[in-house]
Amino acid sequence: MKPVELTEGVYWVGAVDWAVRDFHGYETTRGTTYNNYLIMDDEPTLVDTVKYDFADVSIRHIRNIMDPASIRHVVINHIENDHATGIDKVMALCPGATIYITDKGLKGLSRFFDLSAWKVRVVKSGDTLNIGRRTLRFVETPMLHWPDSMMTWVENDRILFSQDAFGQHIASAARFDDEIATCESMAMLDNAVIDYYANILMPFGNIIKSKIAEIVSLGIDPAIIAPDHGIIWRSHPGRVLQSYLDMANGKADLRVAIIYDTMWHSTEEMARFIAQGIKDEGVDAAIIKLRATPMSAAITEFWKSRGCLIGSPTLNNIMFPTVAEFMTHVRGLRPKNRLVGAFGSYGWGGGAVKDAYEEFKRMRLDMHEPGLQVLYKPSAGDEAACYEFGKAFAARVKEYHTQFS
Ligand code: FEO
Repeated sequence: MKPVELTEGVYWVGAVDWAVRDFHGYETTRGTTYNNYLIMDDEPTLVDTVKYDFADVSIRHIRNIMDPASIRHVVINHIENDHATGIDKVMALCPGATIYITDKGLKGLSRFFDLSAWKVRVVKSGDTLNIGRRTLRFVETPMLHWPDSMMTWVENDRILFSQDAFGQHIASAARFDDEIATCESMAMLDNAVIDYYANILMPFGNIIKSKIAEIVSLGIDPAIIAPDHGIIWRSHPGRVLQSYLDMANGKADLRVAIIYDTMWHSTEEMARFIAQGIKDEGVDAAIIKLRATPMSAAITEFWKSRGCLIGSPTLNNIMFPTVAEFMTHVRGLRPKNRLVGAFGSYGWGGGAVKDAYEEFKRMRLDMHEPGLQVLYKPSAGDEAACYEFGKAFAARVKEYHTQFS
């Protein structure tokens, strides 16, 4: 098997998980990869490990290049299970190696493994490790996206090992962005970046902005960005950096995501009339039914759109459960710079629309009020009200959107 080389002496030794579809609740329709890297120098260094189930695959890739017993250093950029649970299998092969990890990483990793037999060096931003011809520099990135997170910069090769940041959940035969451009498309890759950011990194926009600024101020100008998931950026590293900056600054499309569920199609009918009003106001609209859409895909639609309308019938005086579940996910992701509103049908007491606005208030989102309710089933008059509600919301979204352009 031909080793996958990023640049002379630096190899991808990770694993492709073609089958995973549920990544702690995030529906990974295209699978994923667990990337880790081997730097062949005077003192061979492994950057990250992989998920436990795939540790043997990664070790096979290492053996294809060298004897794992010769590994002198193991860098752990991030301790989440999909990256660090393979460490005991690696350390069993190179028990004399030293692990490099942040203080928070060490505290976390010690909850999963008995570290007493391993040599560990705690590192912080600015610390370096010389491995021969190369020097590695560590940059802590706390809460991007766990407290332990850090990146590793190799100045000599201008490679940034960025752990989860800049990754995507894509299983592919391609390892590099220029390869995927030949067999699939850059648009698919761009969308995978947005999908990953929306579902994993949305809460951390301010941290992302300040960390990218810090990276630039340190003179880090990567020729290659090597994340722990998906495609490695060697032709377009600037493209993914800019995409992250845009999203952290609140970038969204001038469109409205209508995200709803329905019991007997009344809220669904409302969604269609509202969408027509939005379209006639000159704004794009997408209608997303929650029970027909993976939750992570609905979250991405929300994130890509400047405006979002939530549609829910009332069930037992509160929101329909799938809508409540969606709102819980979104609240945890702490979105900003989105205009929201709500609508829905009810039979007697109502309550779903009021519930939705209470959630919006907890999220501190900008709201379009009042929402719209329809008794049992939209009448001809209700159809017109829905249409006008859609037009009015779209007009607000257009105005709101100008702040971000
Ligand atoms: Fe891919 Fe935060 O783990």
